[in-house]
Formats: sequence, structure tokens, C-alpha cells
Amino acid sequence: MNSKGGVGKSTLVVHLAGWLKLHKMQKVRLCDCDPQRSSSTWMKTAVPDLETHQLTTSGDLSSIIMKARQDEYIIIDGRAGDAGIARGILLDSDLVLIPSSPSRLDMEVTSRQCQTVQQIRKVTQSDKPAAFVVLNKLGKDKLSLDAMDLRMIEDINVFNQSLKQRSPYADAAGRGCLVWDLPFYTLPAQREMTTLFQELWKYIQISDHQSS
Ligand SMILES: Nc1ncnc2c1ncn2[C@@H]1O[C@H](COP(=O)(O)OP(=O)(O)O)[C@@H](O)[C@H]1O
Ligand SMILES: [Mg+2]
Repeated sequence: MNSKGGVGKSTLVVHLAGWLKLHKMQKVRLCDCDPQRSSSTWMKTAVPDLETHQLTTSGDLSSIIMKARQDEYIIIDGRAGDAGIARGILLDSDLVLIPSSPSRLDMEVTSRQCQTVQQIRKVTQSDKPAAFVVLNKLGKDKLSLDAMDLRMIEDINVFNQSLKQRSPYADAAGRGCLVWDLPFYTLPAQREMTTLFQELWKYIQISDHQSS
């Protein structure tokens, strides 16, 4: 999630849900909290048998979570600009991905988003949700100092793997498929998305192991 639009929330959500189901053989459902319904619409063509829900309140989400199986991943596409729903989602989540473009303006929004995560942990007196920033739409230039600053925020992780500005991500959205379904010339995009999720998967395995 990220209160800003256009940073890559739906792109990440659709690819993560698809990757967990198709590459890791996990049980997955997608909850789309955005009234634009882009991720649930995209998911229906990308991976038609992946269960999707379109939600309007954080109460809807709680009831899905209550009914979900222990071994199921619920991937939630947050809603930009609705702080109430965002807090509800954060309260119910184990882990939050915060995509952010490396621009100074987006970094400021992302930094506030990280502070909200820290407030939620304080309220619940727990270390949840875990938080990971995904740097998305990187250009050729080096990471800005602001992006480096994010690595300094306590208990907020920044993925080593970031996503470059690449047309296959937009092509996948346009065609309603995943980057891995596109022809071989999109290999760099496929590889960076896979490496990102492998990094996440490693973290999930370690934290599952520690809590069992
Ligand atoms: N790394 C990227 N390179 C190029 N285009 C991207 C990238 N990530 C996302 N996009 C495009 O940017 C737009 C916004 O992405 P989206 O995932 O819909 O963001 P959000 O859900 O945060 O509003 C979409 O057109 C998407 O295809
Ligand atoms: Mg979206």
C-alpha cells in the first residue's frame, strides 16, 4: 500500500498473488480495496482461477480474514487517499509492501506511510505489520539521497532488488497478463520481479520458522 496513486501497488499485488500461486503453489486470494478495481479486473484475465474479492470497507476485509485458512495468503490492494481504510488494512496485516518511486515527493509520502506503520505497531504493541519498501520505476540515475534515508528508518526494510522503469510492466497491465507471460525480450523485467519476490519469500520463510 501507499496513499499515493500510480506508484505500482496494483502491479505488485497482481504479480505477487500470481507468483505465489503459480511459482510457489500457494493458496492465495486477492482483496481489492480500490474502487477503480484495477487489480481484481487484471487478475481475472492474468490468473482466472485465483479467487478475488472487491471490498468497500475494512469490515469486509476482517470477515474474509476470519474465514480464511491458516495456510492461505491474502493479498490486499490498498486504496490511495483513504486513511481510515488504510489503517484498518494495516491493523489486519502481517506484512505490508510500500511501493515508491524514487522522486523526492514520493519519498516524503513513503516516509509518512512508514510512520503510520510504526504508529500501528505502537497501538497494537506488536512488531506487526512488517514493512518493506519497494523502489519502483527507477530511471538510469542513481538512487537519490532520500531513497537512502529510507534505509535509516527503524524497522522498515527496503528491498535490495528494485524495479526499473520498464515498458513490459505497463504492457502486462495493458494485456491483462503477468510479465512472465510476455515474450523473451522482456526477460530483464521478469528477472527483477522474480528476484524481488524471492527476497520476500526468504523473509517469509524465516519469520514463519521463528514463529512456529
Ligand atoms: N516499473 C514500472 N515501469 C513502467 N511502468 C510501470 C512500472 N510500475 C508500474 N507501472 C505503470 O504505472 C502505472 C501505475 O501503476 P499501478 O500499479 O496501477 O499503480 P497504483 O496501483 O499504485 O496506482 C500503470 O500504468 C503501470 O503499468
Ligand atoms: Mg492501483
